Amino acid sequence: MKIFSGTSNKPLAQKIAKNLGIALSDLEVFVFPDGEKRVRILDKVLDEDVVVVQSTSGPTDENYMQLFFILDGLKRSGAKSITAVIPYFGYQRQDHMFRFGEAVSVKVIAKILESLGLNKLIAVDLHSIKIKEAFNIPVTHLSALSVFAKTIKEKGWNENSATLVSPDMGGVRRIKILSEILNNMPYAVIEKNRDLATGNVSAEKITGKIGKKAIIVDDMISSGGTIALAGEILKKNGAEEIYVFATHPVFSDKAPKILQESEVAKVYVTDTVFVPEEKRFPKLEILSVSEMIAESIKSS
Ligand code: R5P
Repeated sequence: MKIFSGTSNKPLAQKIAKNLGIALSDLEVFVFPDGEKRVRILDKVLDEDVVVVQSTSGPTDENYMQLFFILDGLKRSGAKSITAVIPYFGYQRQDHMFRFGEAVSVKVIAKILESLGLNKLIAVDLHSIKIKEAFNIPVTHLSALSVFAKTIKEKGWNENSATLVSPDMGGVRRIKILSEILNNMPYAVIEKNRDLATGNVSAEKITGKIGKKAIIVDDMISSGGTIALAGEILKKNGAEEIYVFATHPVFSDKAPKILQESEVAKVYVTDTVFVPEEKRFPKLEILSVSEMIAESIKSS
């Protein structure tokens, strides 16, 4: 087996390779002065099972183009099978037509990946379980919930001291699963509304009882607005310590500041998306999904 990495999240790819006991194979990404890229596979892959790691976080279009070229290069070099590990899967928000006339971007991406000869996809915490249906190839959908549960247990937080909180209705399934792993830890749900035109979020009510320690669980943090709002609501409803566990630190420009200044004490995220130094802040802690991904590659 050979494992390659695009440029979006090489630290994670290196950790996955280390867990597999192999070194990353070489490829070259050359950038022309006008921004176009040329990708060249430098290791031999003829008749090899190949894994490519590339997160398609921002700049999403560039990272996807790079992945497309890597897949094409591998196919033309005779790879026997190709598995793409896309720890953060960009363009998954638009998994159906919310309003008439909208493009269904996840289906467009699936079509392109399949047309390039991709055999299998491994992704982490897709926004919706329906996203798998956009593909005709096998999709392994991993979840960082087990990584979160491990940290929560290590901290000694349990069903008597903490409440899990979903910051929106879409996350109910997620906290129910985590609650089961954590000995039926109680949970509550904030009903959030998002304006489809502006992206602004507002909250209406909480279902469930909030204890003194609240653990917000989400799939991604982008602007930080959802978490900041949830923090305020939880504080007003009696929470004294608020923690966040979110899989993908997508972090748009103002997110680090918003999160640092929010009511939450600590923000745990994973390394599905590489967080550059300038976006790191004191309340942030990064957990790794590398072992989980390596195990999935080994077992497939
Ligand atoms: C929404 O449905 C997602 O689960 C996240 O809550 C959302 O994408 C977070 O976005 P933001 O940080 O921009 O509020």
